[in-house]
Amino acid sequence: MNYEEVLTNAKKNIGPNCKVCPVCNGLGCGNLMPGPGSKAPGNGAHDNYTAWRKIRLNMDTIGSPDPIDTSVELFGRKLAFPLLTAPIGSIRLQFNPSDDVADFNEKCMAACETRGILHAYGNGLEQRIWDEAILSGRRHGNTGIPVFNPDTPENIEKLMDLYHNDLPAAMCMVLDSAGLPHLRKLNGKGGTKTIGELRRLKAYSKVPMIFKGIMTAEGARKAVDAGADAIIVSNHGGRVVPETPGTADVLPEIVDAVKGETKILVDGGIRYGSDIFKALAMGADACLICRPVLIAYYGGGQEGIELYLDRIRAELSDAMYMCGARKIPDITNRMIRRM
Ligand SMILES: Cc1cc2nc3c(=O)[nH]c(=O)nc-3n(C[C@H](O)[C@H](O)[C@H](O)COP(=O)(O)O)c2cc1C
Repeated sequence: MNYEEVLTNAKKNIGPNCKVCPVCNGLGCGNLMPGPGSKAPGNGAHDNYTAWRKIRLNMDTIGSPDPIDTSVELFGRKLAFPLLTAPIGSIRLQFNPSDDVADFNEKCMAACETRGILHAYGNGLEQRIWDEAILSGRRHGNTGIPVFNPDTPENIEKLMDLYHNDLPAAMCMVLDSAGLPHLRKLNGKGGTKTIGELRRLKAYSKVPMIFKGIMTAEGARKAVDAGADAIIVSNHGGRVVPETPGTADVLPEIVDAVKGETKILVDGGIRYGSDIFKALAMGADACLICRPVLIAYYGGGQEGIELYLDRIRAELSDAMYMCGARKIPDITNRMIRRM
C-alpha cells in the first residue's frame, strides 16, 4: 500500500461526514458536528491550518553533512520524532454507528510502537474504552497516554487507579472539553476546573500530568501553578468554542510565559513535518496531529497510520536538513520567518 491508496480507501470507508480532502484544512467539513468539523460558524480548523501557513522556513544549506536525528526525550521516553497522535473520543458518533474508537486506539498504539512515538487517547464517555486501551497499551509497548475528560477529582482519581499496574508515560486532562455541552449535562461536573482541583490531580498522578486546551499565557501560567508537567496548546480543533485564534498565533506568547517551567506541546492544523519544524522553532517541545491520523486509520488501519507517520517524519527530516539543523535541539527561532 502507498499513501495515495490509503486516501482512496479512506474515501470509501470513512462515511459521509468526511470528504477526505486533498489537504485536511477544515474547509470541506466546515461546521459539520457530529463529524470532523468545527463549532459554528465552522472556521476553527481552517484558522488553525492557516496560522501555520503564515510561518515560513529560512533555508540554509551551507553547513555540516552530518545525518539528521529527529529523536527527542519526552516523559522519560525516547521518541523517534516529536509527535503524538491526538485523542479522539468517539468515532461512532462522529463518523459511522458501527465504528469503535477502541479499535482506532489499538491501531494507533500499534503504529506508534513500530514508529517510536506515543498515542494520546480519549474514551467518548464509554467506561470500557479505558480497559481496552490498557490492554492495547500492554500489547504495544505502553505507547498510550489516557486523556480524561473534565470530571470531579474523585472520579478522575478512580480512572487513574485503573492504571495501577500499567503506568503510562503520562496522563492528561482535556480542560477545554468544558465546552462540550453533553459533558456538562452528564453529571454537572464536566465543566471548568479550579487550580486547586488540578493541583490535586497532579499530586495524585504517579506519572507526568498534562493539561490539554491552553490558549493564553494566563492559562499556561495557571496550569504551571497547578503543577503541569506539560501543557498542550490546543483549541480542540475549533470544536469547543468558535472564533479562537489559531494555535500557531498564540504559541509564541505561551512560550514566552512558561518555557522551561513545563513541556509545551501544540496541536491544531499541523499537517506537514515542516509544521512540526515551525512549532519546535517557536519553542514547542512536541506536536499532536488528529484528523489526518483518523483518515489514515480509515484508509489502511495500522499500516495506513504507519505510512502517514513515515511521511510526516520524512518531511520533518527534510526541513531540518534544508535549514541547517542536524538534531532537534539545533532548531532555533532564526530558522523560521513570520510572513
Ligand atoms: C472527531 C474528533 C473528536 C475529538 N475528540 C477528542 C477527545 O475526545 N479528547 C480530546 O482531548 N480531544 C479530542 N479532539 C481534539 C483533537 O485531539 C485535537 O486537539 C484537534 O482535533 C486538533 O488537531 P487537528 O487539527 O490535527 O485535528 C477531537 C477532534 C476531533 C476532530
